[in-house]
Amino acid sequence: MRISLNILVFACVAGNFGLAHADYDLAQARNCLACHSVDKRKYGPNFKQIAEKYGGQAGAIELVAKKVKSGGAGVWGEYDMMPPQPQVTDDEARILAAYILSVK
Ligand code: HEC
Repeated sequence: MRISLNILVFACVAGNFGLAHADYDLAQARNCLACHSVDKRKYGPNFKQIAEKYGGQAGAIELVAKKVKSGGAGVWGEYDMMPPQPQVTDDEARILAAYILSVK
């Protein structure tokens, strides 16, 4: 049930934004790319690593969306902390989470 709901959310998100690069543009506009890269090492873990870590989990989009808004520390050990991102709305956090989890 959780999983099919996520697929539904993802379908809506993908439908709303159409092209994948629109999601990348949102990550850029919300300043995520100051610390993250799609597949290279930067200050934070790259999106590919995050997709590998959480991708298979039930409720992954909601989980990652929460982390996008609240930031965090200590999960990726070697890295420093991520400050909260109050400029990101709940909807945008879900779009960004779905995008990050779709990176291969
Ligand atoms: C100031 C630098 C910085 C910015 C800006 C930033 N992040 Fe992060 N992010 C980090 C760091 C550092 C970590 C690793 C934190 C940890 O080890 O718990 C991280 C972790 C994450 C994680 C994984 C969380 C976890 O617990 O595994 C996601 C998802 C994420 N960021 C998404 C985003 C998105 C989306 C944005 C833009 C809205 C963003 N970040 C902006 C530095 C940043």
